[in-house]
Amino acid sequence: MNKKERVFVETVKKYYLENGRHGLMWRKTKNPYRILLSEVMLQQTQVDRVVPKYKAFLIEFPTWKHLADASLGSVLKQWQGLGYNRRAKMLHNCAKEVIDTYKGRYPRTHEESLKLPGVGPYTAGAVQAFAFNRPIAIIETNIRTVYIHHFFTNDTDVSDAALVRLIESTLDTENPREWYWALMDYGSFLKKEHKSLNSKSKHYTKQSTFSGSDRQIRGAIVRTLAEAERPLSRMVLLKKLSYFEDIRVDSQLEKLEKEGMVTKTKQSYHLPV
Ligand code: ADE
Repeated sequence: MNKKERVFVETVKKYYLENGRHGLMWRKTKNPYRILLSEVMLQQTQVDRVVPKYKAFLIEFPTWKHLADASLGSVLKQWQGLGYNRRAKMLHNCAKEVIDTYKGRYPRTHEESLKLPGVGPYTAGAVQAFAFNRPIAIIETNIRTVYIHHFFTNDTDVSDAALVRLIESTLDTENPREWYWALMDYGSFLKKEHKSLNSKSKHYTKQSTFSGSDRQIRGAIVRTLAEAERPLSRMVLLKKLSYFEDIRVDSQLEKLEKEGMVTKTKQSYHLPV
């Protein structure tokens, strides 16, 4: 580490000591299931919204086995309020794979874990770091923010490759778990202070507009079916979703059915049982 990097590490650690979010539930466990669940939930949803959902989810599905044995419909019901329902389906598939292929024991190697459904490089790496305290370079939005703020102050189009080099050289190899918590908390603070930091990343993707999108319609269909006491006919469903054009609802309904997120039985729609 050079001098600049050492000063940087001290800044991050000081911030964390004084202002870190030390009470977060997923930081009090080393259980890979609980860690992975938190990472999937936190991917596109704010910490404050995740906290109550995370608690409730673990009461309903406390282990890989409980999740794998559950119906997708019951998982989707529990997922409501988090958005991006596809994450719930992938998590459900992931649980089935952990049970079927690994007998309920999360794979210990990074390579194996990368093959799990819905588990990409960040998520796999985060489990390595947070569950097993393995010193592996991981990169997500808050971590990007921190390195860009400190090392690429006047740059644009910063590539992840450039960041990974720095992440590796500043990594606390004794305690990567704590170090990444510190980076994430500091990054979340910096984001609030400097709104546009991440747009300097080459890998920055702006959240697309939700209102009026297919994603909004998909979400509304799944939520409506999750809240319904019984299967709904197409007519009833269209009526409940009359805020959207019928043709668009029909189109998303068909897609959801093909993807296995929605089931049609005797001309009525319901979540998979
Ligand atoms: N702690 C562990 N993982 C986290 C994440 N992705 N966001 C915020 N805090 C975390």
